[in-house]
Amino acid sequence: MTQKLEPKLERLEKIMSRLGYGARRDVPHWIREGWLTVNGEKPKSASVKVYAGDVELDGEPLDHPFGLTVIYHKPLGTVCSRKEEGRIIFEDFPERWLDRKPPLSSVGRLDKETSGLLIVTDDGQLNHYLTSPKHHISKTYEVTLDSPLQGNEVETFASGTLMLEADDKPCLPAELMITGEKTVQVVLHEGRYHQVRRMFAAVGNHVTALKRTHTGNLSLESLNLQAGDYQTIEVEALKQLIG
Ligand code: URA
Repeated sequence: MTQKLEPKLERLEKIMSRLGYGARRDVPHWIREGWLTVNGEKPKSASVKVYAGDVELDGEPLDHPFGLTVIYHKPLGTVCSRKEEGRIIFEDFPERWLDRKPPLSSVGRLDKETSGLLIVTDDGQLNHYLTSPKHHISKTYEVTLDSPLQGNEVETFASGTLMLEADDKPCLPAELMITGEKTVQVVLHEGRYHQVRRMFAAVGNHVTALKRTHTGNLSLESLNLQAGDYQTIEVEALKQLIG
């Protein structure tokens, strides 16, 4: 698990490298040019130990020096992992963020053909907190189906007995709200691979569109983020919104 980053003294060259600004070897040049300051003063060397929060580059404070967490509206057709084929979600973020250490990763995954609310963070403890079943953080999805509902899906999903192909345990009870002949909202309390699609396959239907609308109490709609947009947030504020 990645440790949460706290303000501590670090070598200037290390700070610039771990925040994705460039290689350690570039830092002496930036100092010579007068681009870097620490508490408004020109640093004496690239290896001087300083607090990242005191550093400015071109008169600007460094970008999220102690951790970066993002609420993101994942568009359709993008992938969350480099192991999958397609345009990766990180392309929607500033290029420099890709070079940060620890790296950004999504909290769980949404499949390529699923859109909606996705949290992306470099904070391993937060990632663990949001995905651990212990914390009971629900996920809500809007689903469009190929065939009309048969009538027994609400009970089947709530029963705690629905088995998915290739799994050895039934799904936890899930709440299904019918919103139309072929549309539903489903609330899950666990996160299995392609879970919503597989739950509907298990009752003989097929998902044609899928969007995550909430993580816990946090709703995508309340944030007014268009597909591909994101906003950064502090960890404690995010936990409050999720509830
Ligand atoms: N369930 C799915 O089938 N896909 C997702 O991306 C998320 C939940």
